[in-house]
Amino acid sequence: MTDILKTNKQGVLTVGDADVSALAKEFGTPLFIMDEEHIVQNMRAYTKPMYEEYKGGGLVCYASKAFCIKEICRIAHREGLGLDVVSGGELYTALSAGMPADKICFHGNNKSAEELAMAFENGVGRIVADSEEELFILDAMAAEYKNPPKVLLRVKPGIEAHTHEFIQTGQEDSKFGVSLASGDAVRLLSRNWEHLALAGVHCHIGSQIFEDVPFITAAELMVKLLDDVHKICGRYLPEINLGGGFGIRYTEADQPRPLQEAMRATISGVEKACEKYGVPYPFLMVEPGRSIVGDAGITVYTIGTVKKIPGIRTYVAVDGGMADNPRYIMYQAAYDAVLPLQPHAARTEKVTICGKCCESGDILIRDILLPEVRRGDLLAVLSTGAYNYSMSSNYNRLARPAVVMASKGKARLCVRRESYEDLIKNDL
Ligand code: LLP
Repeated sequence: MTDILKTNKQGVLTVGDADVSALAKEFGTPLFIMDEEHIVQNMRAYTKPMYEEYKGGGLVCYASKAFCIKEICRIAHREGLGLDVVSGGELYTALSAGMPADKICFHGNNKSAEELAMAFENGVGRIVADSEEELFILDAMAAEYKNPPKVLLRVKPGIEAHTHEFIQTGQEDSKFGVSLASGDAVRLLSRNWEHLALAGVHCHIGSQIFEDVPFITAAELMVKLLDDVHKICGRYLPEINLGGGFGIRYTEADQPRPLQEAMRATISGVEKACEKYGVPYPFLMVEPGRSIVGDAGITVYTIGTVKKIPGIRTYVAVDGGMADNPRYIMYQAAYDAVLPLQPHAARTEKVTICGKCCESGDILIRDILLPEVRRGDLLAVLSTGAYNYSMSSNYNRLARPAVVMASKGKARLCVRRESYEDLIKNDL
């Protein structure tokens, strides 16, 4: 991992050419530092093939759940992306940041009446219906509004892809989407809805996936579904949304291929399936989240207590933990870390990085080799740009860290650090 680290002349870790230790001093720790240029490059790895090479036209929607703040919505908009939102809160953030409503795709397995009304009133471009029940609700709502959103139906494609495996099973046991295998999806898509602007199909096969095959298989299943619907009702639904899921590098064990190649392989999967079934190229959407922001972010902490338990383990405690990164406690996620002041120093000590929460499982990295560390040293955990800030909590009333965006040697504050006052502001 250290081979991809950037440093300045003094050998200090940089993000967006800004000195990480200087940023820690200026903004305090824990601190999320995002590399703006890196985010932009990740976005372009999707938009270039999609907008310049795919003949059917398309839209790349950044899955805002990965990291949802106003500034990332602005960057996505500037780079020509739309947004995937899954709640009124994400929708509100996107609209507040100036994302055009027609480029927003609204997801969720249990959208409330208020959330749906908010989407219709603001002119959201697309809603992904998650159930038969919701299609009926949307059909009724479409009668009441002038320009109702286009509706896609989320389908369970019967594919489950994990980092290192890919299985095609029934996989009916999921709270998301409508069954393909049972024929429900074809039946609902071929139905003559009275008011609904039914535009197409959506699927999402998982997250942190490195292989092309699951995406290509999903693409083929979705194109075949358009063909099946055409056979029944004589019309081709014009859109396919293949969700997100491209994997990123957290540790050396992860070897993703370049995003642009992964995107091209998916596009080619869609094109080949269209040729196979004689289906016109659909308008294509993808919703990458992790692969846009994940490897563009780090979290900088200050080390506190170093507890050596002879013959057992050395715990190195930092000033954050599961409150700003719950991914170890939730998924046993693996991360790499370095000391910003000496990122290439020999790693001689095996330690476990833990947080400061009242929970034994509050660990960030188990058994990592690091140079010898002391109270007061800085520690940077790498690849924390996705699903860290967005899943952070105030457990133990820890205040959420600040977020800065670094670019060309400078950093701008994008989210202020929470204050103690913020923590009690809704308490009565
Ligand atoms: N579209 C849909 C419908 C999704 O459910 C998701 C992720 C995405 C797009 C974006 O997927 P991505 O490109 O980020 O893989 N909290 C977990 C990840 C949950 C992903 C949920 N859905 C984690 O920290 O690993």
